[in-house]
Amino acid sequence: MNSSHKHIPINLFDFEALAEAALSKSAYDYYASGSGDEITLVSNRIAFDKIELLPRVLVDVSQRNIQTTVLSTPVAAPILIAPTAFQRLAHPDGEISTARAAEKAGTIMTVSTLSNTTLEDVSSATQATLWFQLYVHKDRELTRSLIQRAETAGYKAICITVDTPLLGRRERDVRNRFGLPDHLEIANVKTHLNASEDNASALAIYATELLDQAITWKDIEWVRSITTLPVLLKGIHHPDDAVLAVKHGANGIIVSNHGARQLDTVPATIDMLPGITRAIDGQIEVLLDGGVRRGTDILKALALGASAILIGRPILWGLTVDGEQGVLRVLEMLREELDLAMALSGITSIDEVSKDLLFPTK
Ligand SMILES: Cc1cc2nc3c(=O)[nH]c(=O)nc-3n(C[C@H](O)[C@H](O)[C@H](O)COP(=O)(O)O)c2cc1C
Repeated sequence: MNSSHKHIPINLFDFEALAEAALSKSAYDYYASGSGDEITLVSNRIAFDKIELLPRVLVDVSQRNIQTTVLSTPVAAPILIAPTAFQRLAHPDGEISTARAAEKAGTIMTVSTLSNTTLEDVSSATQATLWFQLYVHKDRELTRSLIQRAETAGYKAICITVDTPLLGRRERDVRNRFGLPDHLEIANVKTHLNASEDNASALAIYATELLDQAITWKDIEWVRSITTLPVLLKGIHHPDDAVLAVKHGANGIIVSNHGARQLDTVPATIDMLPGITRAIDGQIEVLLDGGVRRGTDILKALALGASAILIGRPILWGLTVDGEQGVLRVLEMLREELDLAMALSGITSIDEVSKDLLFPTK
């Protein structure tokens, strides 16, 4: 192993190692951790590794195209940016840098309700297509105003997170008394999140007090009724909920276990995907996030019926290591890996990816 290994990341795991060295323990643990015993955190990765690819040979792969569309928006690759809170813990320019990298990479950024930069400031900084991730708060006027602000600022979809009536118990945050430093806030709602109590995460307290534990399908209809934007539901696990999502007018769903941060011991997202795509049967778009770190992971998700994937933590690692350039490099690396995996599989465009690529063949 030469010394450059330490400094020049060549894959997403290298980025994490560099970011871990640069971040405070509290910030790194907040970004990296899962809930409970982190069983699902591990299985999100292992499940991808267990799936085998069966390539075709002697196909002309000299010309390849990995562009596609997601909810009718053209993207340079089926690699989107998942919403992650508090990006200024990673870099002083936080969400602004991520948004600029999204534009350069030709992809979509989902901006979290819990950003350290207002949704308006993010949209002013970029031409990238932005989606707004919504946490439904008990305060419905606040919730309504977030949706309206996102519409006014030119966001192209509302992505409602449906797996978070309360925050999963992230024990590393509990031990670290996770909170935001004084100079950062939840910018969209002008709220500080100072570490307050022993053995408690300030974010968990925020969720308990302000997010709506009574959220149901009726509220999805309510959101639908007050916005003209497409609505995605993020955090679908069960095929029956996927069917309900269609019934309640969702334009798409994201198969997600919140990066293993909510209910621990749920299945890996890639293992939940086949049942869900079967239930949806092409009626709406299905996206996936959770543990995607390799181009081959993306190929597997597409083969099982996802139209694109999103990445969460790797964006934060790139942002920590080198701001906008770091995020761009992370997105490029994955794109290059996907392109190579396709070439070596005998596939030249995204729409050619099918179950046929999976071993054993069915
Ligand atoms: C630090 C961190 C913050 C997150 N914040 C949010 C959030 O504000 N809203 C949300 O819907 N999901 C949030 N997520 C979940 C991500 O959108 C996504 O589902 C997950 O990170 C994907 O898994 P990956 O990190 O393995 O790629 C967060 C995840 C992490 C790691």
